[in-house]
Amino acid sequence: MERIIISGGSRLNGTVRISGSKNAALPLMAASLLTEDLLILENFPRLGDTDTLVKLLSHLGVEIGFDGPSEDNTFESVISLRAAGITDTAAPYDIVRKMRASILVLGPLLARCGRVTVSLPGGCAIGTRPVDLHLAALESLGAQLALRKGYIHARAPKGLTGTNIRFSSVSVGATENLLMAASLAKGTTILENAAREPEITDLAQCLCAMGANISGIGTSRLVVEGVNSLHGARYRILPDRIETGTYAIAAAITGGDVKLLNADKSTLHSQTESLSQVGVNFKTVDNGLNVSCDLSGLKSISITTQPYPGFPTDMQAQIMALLSTARGTSAISEAIFENRFMHVPELCRMGADITIRGTTAIINGIPRLKGAPVMATDLRASVSLVLAGLAAEGQTVVNRVYHLDRGYECLVEKLFALGADIRRDDV
Ligand code: UD1
Repeated sequence: MERIIISGGSRLNGTVRISGSKNAALPLMAASLLTEDLLILENFPRLGDTDTLVKLLSHLGVEIGFDGPSEDNTFESVISLRAAGITDTAAPYDIVRKMRASILVLGPLLARCGRVTVSLPGGCAIGTRPVDLHLAALESLGAQLALRKGYIHARAPKGLTGTNIRFSSVSVGATENLLMAASLAKGTTILENAAREPEITDLAQCLCAMGANISGIGTSRLVVEGVNSLHGARYRILPDRIETGTYAIAAAITGGDVKLLNADKSTLHSQTESLSQVGVNFKTVDNGLNVSCDLSGLKSISITTQPYPGFPTDMQAQIMALLSTARGTSAISEAIFENRFMHVPELCRMGADITIRGTTAIINGIPRLKGAPVMATDLRASVSLVLAGLAAEGQTVVNRVYHLDRGYECLVEKLFALGADIRRDDV
């Protein structure tokens, strides 16, 4: 089993290149199903999750090719996807169970082919995560749905028809599925209480480059005028704001000074605001953002995770690692997922003083964490343990590295290049 071994205490210094966004790449790849033409995505992140979607799309008949990255990692990857003929409209359990975002093929396949079968993603480590919002909204567009033996069977023999949809709660995935489906529906679809994440804006802009007609982009009210067909496009994926925040905390937690090359500051407001309150310094520089921190000045704060533009749930575990060593008592409330504190017992094994009260974690800062063997349960929990390990006294061994590979491109290489004492081995 592969694991990551870190000897904590090295200050990080230098420049790290931020990769293309995982959570933007996944819906953009699914959008290739909407056209028989070529979709080319630049700044493509090579990750476990994007590999899983490559497998699923290939299974459905999409022809996929790659260019790059160069060996020195300075030339980014490009993926080309052509869904000239869809040979299968069923997304099997064996692939979907590996990654919940596989549900993103539901909307485009239904719109393009009039039928689709997708395995229900089921529960996962960070909560039950149902797909009821996706299904109810697709039904409003005229889809006929049936759930049988763990699979969603959806049909739209006469095509989908636009309508007004108000999501009862904000969902990133449901907004993305509906944007894609509505792009090829007859007439106008209005999506209200839509998610506003930058990754949704990226998807909407790419769909427009493919010939879709979408207005209200970046707001919670998206208006989609359906078109008969979409065409190919070349589109550049936005930088990953969660990877950016993660490296900002890596710099901060080691008292370092790091340039985040390609970071898109416009997508980071709530993160830079909260981290600035904690005592992290940000400076806009050419092509990115500089982060530095004086560890003796770290202060406690209170945060609640929220849909964008609020503080992202995907950064909750990482900021908790940082607050573990800040002076005073911090509170983090998790308002998006009901079971997303699984990193807490592991951080406590490293000496952190954290207690959970309902959906809030209370963190009493301590002067220094201590290295320990730790085990992670999901992607962001795993990376929070790596961050804690960078700061801790002694050695930290992070097991279940595959979680990290799902969402962080070259994590060990990037941290090593910044001066971390980190390596990967296989036992
Ligand atoms: C996406 C992100 C994930 C991030 C999350 C919230 C991708 C690939 N993943 O996940 O990294 O943590 O947004 O920012 O982009 N819900 C329902 N019914 C539904 C759909 C969602 O109850 O049909 C609930 C979920 O259980 C959760 C909340 O709504 O409590 C938000 O989920 P959602 O925004 O849909 O997250 P994902 O799209 O799965």
